[in-house]
Amino acid sequence: MTSSFDKFADSLQEEINQDVMKTYGEKVYERWRNPRFIGTMESPTGYGRVTGTCGDTMQIFLRLEDGIVSEASFTTDGCGCSAVCASVACELAMKKGVERLEDITGKAILGVLGELPEDDVHCAFLAAETLQAALDASMKPGK
Ligand code: FES
Repeated sequence: MTSSFDKFADSLQEEINQDVMKTYGEKVYERWRNPRFIGTMESPTGYGRVTGTCGDTMQIFLRLEDGIVSEASFTTDGCGCSAVCASVACELAMKKGVERLEDITGKAILGVLGELPEDDVHCAFLAAETLQAALDASMKPGK
């Protein structure tokens, strides 16, 4: 039996879902509902942690094998859009050689997601910057 509180919670969630879909579009909505590559990683070969001007901090973990990204994951304490953008950054990085990771810019992430509201565009650039920080760390001697 569904309580009136459960019904209220369900309708509130549905309202939030519709708002996200309307504001951000289907691609962002789908990834927001099912973020891929989320989580930390034991002993990554590349690790980047960047705090954006908005105050949110993102981490990206990479595992490189023979110069190819075999695993990628992220965490963020930021907005839902930061998780969506970091998820795309990780997806774009997968199976790519290090020389191609520099192509994963904020603009490239936006290209996958389509237009974001102006206030959220920086989330894509934070994801790209964090990925580059992870790449830079992987290039340091000893890695
Ligand atoms: Fe800070 Fe989105 S508002 S990353």
